[in-house]
Amino acid sequence: MSKLRYSSWASGLRKSDIAEFLRLAKEPGVLSLCPGVPYPGAYPTEKVVEVTSSLIKNNPEAIFPYGNPQGTLRSREAVTYRMKKRGASVSPEHIVMTAGSQNACDMVLRMIADPGDTLIIEAPTFLGVLDSIKNWGLNLVEVPIDNDGIRTDVLKNTLTQLRNKGVKPKAIYLMSNYHNPAGIMLSRERREELPQIAEEFDCFIIEDDAYSELLYDDVDQTAVKAFDTTGNVIYLGSFSKLVSPGFRVGWAVVPEELVQTWNMCRPMFDVGSPTLNQELIAELHVDNWLDGHIATLIEGYRSRRDAMLGALEEFMPKGVTWTRAHGGFYCWITTPGNVDHDSLFKTAAKNKVMYFTGNFFYLDNQHHNHFRLCYSRPDVDVIVEAVKRIAIALKEEMAK
Ligand SMILES: Cc1ncc(COP(=O)(O)O)c(C=O)c1O
Repeated sequence: MSKLRYSSWASGLRKSDIAEFLRLAKEPGVLSLCPGVPYPGAYPTEKVVEVTSSLIKNNPEAIFPYGNPQGTLRSREAVTYRMKKRGASVSPEHIVMTAGSQNACDMVLRMIADPGDTLIIEAPTFLGVLDSIKNWGLNLVEVPIDNDGIRTDVLKNTLTQLRNKGVKPKAIYLMSNYHNPAGIMLSRERREELPQIAEEFDCFIIEDDAYSELLYDDVDQTAVKAFDTTGNVIYLGSFSKLVSPGFRVGWAVVPEELVQTWNMCRPMFDVGSPTLNQELIAELHVDNWLDGHIATLIEGYRSRRDAMLGALEEFMPKGVTWTRAHGGFYCWITTPGNVDHDSLFKTAAKNKVMYFTGNFFYLDNQHHNHFRLCYSRPDVDVIVEAVKRIAIALKEEMAK
């Protein structure tokens, strides 16, 4: 890419790597556990056709003109219902509708952070956000996660060290549920602790909960936002995985002060999100229709998750470990340190199977003893065969 014609942000993207992965994954006979997208049957096609045409015919005034930049009232009311399921009681006045949660994150960061500001991120973290902010000129500081989510002990030490140097981070970006890529969940204890840490160090928490409600086991998924008594937690949610990523509907729950700033900035960002898509989402809440749909999705994803865990158990060589996701789309695999992951990836590609290597999810692009497997899209038999092929490649690499 010519440095003269493009911004340093665009020129610095690792776009080519990911694009190459996705191109290879589409080659004939290749099984892909790469993209975190719904399985084809997950989309509520008939219901959407019915609801969309009725909305356009019966309420064109709610659809065609410019809408409220904060989002339609009906869609924000639908979000209050969804937030109650996460244990958080919020009013529509504190909700901003967006074109997905990544768009929400982008707008939030544009409002709170300047180049040179410090932002805490998890290691590993979601590559979509990582890639988008890497070249903004922010000072990104990684804090590791374990099986219970972000390590709050390390977080407090990091924040204290930064404070001693006169640095006050603007925000801590983290995932509370079904972490992408790690497949883990924050423990209840840490969920309760995090708003206190944010208060003590005077920074925001940006809680990204893009897979909200896709929970397959009986575990606590109360949002960090539910424990926020001081207004430091910004919650990001999405209908991408509950309805369709193509509709681009997500939301943010933000403190009063930020709502006002956001409403002022919105005409300069994108003027607002598409009203038809928001009203469609609102309409899917009538008679709790969406709850029934989510229950069907949970069945579909749980069977895929179980197939992956079963195949990992059956085929993976000794010494390899993985996370047992309670929800979401991902398993995170850890190999013994002597495995060369560049070579493993090539051997797997020869075996016609694709996945995302772990380095994508770290700031320095260097952590080489992990990879991410996604079970959301393929059918169960494909998942089993793909894991088997990866295990064969891994055995070959471990024997070197
Ligand atoms: C953790 C996380 N956040 C945000 C997103 C983006 O979601 P949306 O489609 O709502 O922008 C994704 C998508 O995969 C994700 O995994």
